[in-house]
Amino acid sequence: MLMKFETASSGHSEIAVPESGAPFNPVEDVIYRRRSVRLYKKKQVPEYLVRRVIEAGRFAPSTGNSQPWKFIVIQDQKMIKDMTDHIVKSCQSLVKMTDYFSKPGTGWRERIVNFARLFWQNEFHPNPLGAFTQIAEGKLGVWHGAPTVIIILIDQRAPSKPLIDVGVAGQNMVLSAHSMGLGTCWVGFVEFLSRSYKWRKRLNIKSPYRIANSIAIGYPKGTPDGYVKRETKAIDWYDENGQFSIKY
Ligand SMILES: Cc1cc2nc3c(=O)[nH]c(=O)nc-3n(C[C@H](O)[C@H](O)[C@H](O)COP(=O)(O)O)c2cc1C
Repeated sequence: MLMKFETASSGHSEIAVPESGAPFNPVEDVIYRRRSVRLYKKKQVPEYLVRRVIEAGRFAPSTGNSQPWKFIVIQDQKMIKDMTDHIVKSCQSLVKMTDYFSKPGTGWRERIVNFARLFWQNEFHPNPLGAFTQIAEGKLGVWHGAPTVIIILIDQRAPSKPLIDVGVAGQNMVLSAHSMGLGTCWVGFVEFLSRSYKWRKRLNIKSPYRIANSIAIGYPKGTPDGYVKRETKAIDWYDENGQFSIKY
């Protein structure tokens, strides 16, 4: 039985504030060492660990404590395969659609995509588009062979910006999973299931809920390669003396 935290008592008085230059604490270690895992062992994640990960999501902060989420855990391998097949087919259709009028060298695909971007700036961003093509061609997995998938639903009645709330909950889950030796990868392509009546029915997703995102979870196989570069963006800083500076 999972221990549930029904009241969050603040433990601030017990936490020492680090001196400048002190080494990272265990929470910071988890934040900096987490990577998206795209290769998993077949071994299933036991229920108690999945529940522990979800508990970390349940305790996330949210606008006005609205908690606008709901989780679906899928450990049925046939179902994960069926969902994957649906997403691969959707990507293939999308790639075909944008290629429809294209002749090599005419740049039509780019023109169609650029036009679509006027209306769906984020969806038709070059990054996901590149990944659509890779998924369509079988070069990129969907849930990367993870034995467990958690779909995060969003309650569309929630106040303000519930997508931020579910993102915060999901990141709590991803970090807690990493802290327990599990690997995770956010998988936004689950969105394709949201557009399918058949899948909404099969997953019993009803209004006011809709799919927000998903997380693949399992035991990592090997170590994720390479270093994922982070940009250092300028920070506008107004200090306590009223001085403005740009810091990095
Ligand atoms: C909301 C969200 C959706 C994502 N969707 C996918 C996805 O569909 N497939 C995938 O392989 N990675 C996905 N990622 C992982 C990102 O590609 C990854 O976080 C980024 O490249 C940084 O790498 P890192 O997580 O290893 O630090 C997603 C990440 C986020 C936050």
